[in-house]
Amino acid sequence: MRQADFEKLREYLYRQTGIYFEDQKLYYVEKRVEQHMTARGFKDFRDYFSALRFDRTGALWQELLNTLTVNETYFFREYDQLKCFAEEVIPLWMKNGVGKYGVRLWCAGCSTGEEAYTLAIILKEMAEDLYWEVHATDINTAVLERAERGIYNNYATRQVPEVYLERYFTPIGENYAISSLLKKKIKFYQVNLMDDQAMQKMRNFNAIFCRNVLIYFDDLSRRRVALHFYQALEAGGYVFLGHSESMSRITTLFKPVKFQNAIIYQKGN
Ligand SMILES: C[S@@+](CC[C@H](N)C(=O)[O-])C[C@H]1O[C@@H](n2cnc3c(N)ncnc32)[C@H](O)[C@@H]1O
Repeated sequence: MRQADFEKLREYLYRQTGIYFEDQKLYYVEKRVEQHMTARGFKDFRDYFSALRFDRTGALWQELLNTLTVNETYFFREYDQLKCFAEEVIPLWMKNGVGKYGVRLWCAGCSTGEEAYTLAIILKEMAEDLYWEVHATDINTAVLERAERGIYNNYATRQVPEVYLERYFTPIGENYAISSLLKKKIKFYQVNLMDDQAMQKMRNFNAIFCRNVLIYFDDLSRRRVALHFYQALEAGGYVFLGHSESMSRITTLFKPVKFQNAIIYQKGN
């Protein structure tokens, strides 16, 4: 792939998704583009690029996108933050009557579903008395299909505490199927965090988990997403980012709150 072609594709991808591939990712992108071009019978990059942009169905673009996003995830990832959610935030909500009419969580960039199901397990264990629901979204349609299937291997479940493995999973051969009880409480659907129209529909959440997603964005796109998150949250709502990520560097909209087990960002009351 020529550097100029890489740059064209990078720019297009960035404008559509907020994801920015640095120069050193040329090989990563090139490998996937070449495989996709071969699979779809394209020999010339210009034809391919024009088809990506002008294919009315969007199917070609979606196929490429599904191979380019990084989808690494597993159950109970970044345990300290989840502990903070379970043992500090939920009790605070219960005490202050937050989510009296229901707790709404948004798992933004949910990949294959492990994070959303982890949150559902925590809510089931810690907030049994409350009505709650989890919205789990991603730009990649292939991972959303896998999330809906809810079948996981040993690697994905390696950090699930034994007692929860028994309570919420059924072994199927070498894999585990997630309980249908949890499945019913999660809505998986496609949302591109850079799609203003889709983002405006996301409203009335008590907390948003967007962990290890914005690391692939640049500051400008992060800021745009942060503004949408602000509008999507109820007053006093929380944003949980991955532990290498920070809101303070990109916006003053949220106040960092130091809990015992983690720092979380809060929308003012
Ligand atoms: C590394 S995974 C993180 C999964 C999970 N949040 C975790 O921390 O384990 C990043 C996910 O963000 C999704 N993503 C990337 N850009 C996106 C965008 N513009 N809109 C929605 N999701 C996006 C990717 O498809 C991928 O599934």
